[in-house]
Amino acid sequence: MSQFQTHPQRTMESGFLERKNRFAKLASLISHTRKYDLILEHKIEEEGFKALQLYTSIYISACLMTGGVVLSEEEIVERLSAQKASLPNKTPNGLLLPKADFNLEFNMLHKCFARIITGLGFDYLTDSWQLPINVRVVDGQADRGALDRPYSTSKFHSDTWAGEPADVVLLNIPILGDIERTSLEWLEPLQELGESHLKVLRDFNEGEDIARQSTKIDISPRLGHIYFSDCALLHRTVRANGRCRVSIDLRFRMKTSPSYKAHIENLCGPSRLGNYVSLRQWQRIGSEALIVFEETMEECRNKYNILQASHNTVAPYKMAELAADNTEVMRRS
Ligand SMILES: [Fe+2]
Repeated sequence: MSQFQTHPQRTMESGFLERKNRFAKLASLISHTRKYDLILEHKIEEEGFKALQLYTSIYISACLMTGGVVLSEEEIVERLSAQKASLPNKTPNGLLLPKADFNLEFNMLHKCFARIITGLGFDYLTDSWQLPINVRVVDGQADRGALDRPYSTSKFHSDTWAGEPADVVLLNIPILGDIERTSLEWLEPLQELGESHLKVLRDFNEGEDIARQSTKIDISPRLGHIYFSDCALLHRTVRANGRCRVSIDLRFRMKTSPSYKAHIENLCGPSRLGNYVSLRQWQRIGSEALIVFEETMEECRNKYNILQASHNTVAPYKMAELAADNTEVMRRS
């Protein structure tokens, strides 16, 4: 018997129905250009997206140690492709982790992003938000070693398989680079599975059968759009021999009943729960408080040289409160 066989419990079915209803409520608040049961595409207002591109470019330029020079999109793509292996703060799945050397740039990016998200007006439906947000560089060429990793994003997966709580919705925003060829795709699993597939796996390969029986969703990421997708869908990175892409992604947890929340938290990887903070804490960053990372690029490089691909992907941080006068200035800027 497959570990993903339809579960007879009623809670599985009602859980899935409630999941769809939660997503429908979200979709009723967010204007969208495309929508399916558990995924929607929202067009970001133009000025906001331009600002997001700029702050992402500032952040990446700082990671590339350009000495304050903000690189163009073309330069960023070129430098990131050339430096594929030598950025110590880049994880095997392409995250560019914030470091002490560019704390301010990261806070500015977070603030810009939070302003766009908060402006959508759906935050009262959410329970908590991932911190820090992910800035991800996806190489255009497949790397054999990366594909063999158990949790490689090149394999179809639900984030719950890697330990995320099963009440999360994912946000993906392509920012710059080769969006067309270095892309993302989503699958909808068989409805009969309900929520039975939302559990931790040791390797995304264990979910191959589910992916095989799933249906491809007809959405291809476009520049200037945010993709909201429920974690019950499967997704993966797609590479078609193109150049690299830069995206922002993060997850937020939806508000559910206390008993369902406790059930979800029992099933997920407990260490993942520590990656979520309250909306209020998430929104204060960059205006009332700064998120501060203490490890420097140099310290990270030393670790990276020793540990290579398995280096630590956790980004410990602390919060630094701003004085009231400064808060006013930051809020207006
Ligand atoms: Fe994922």
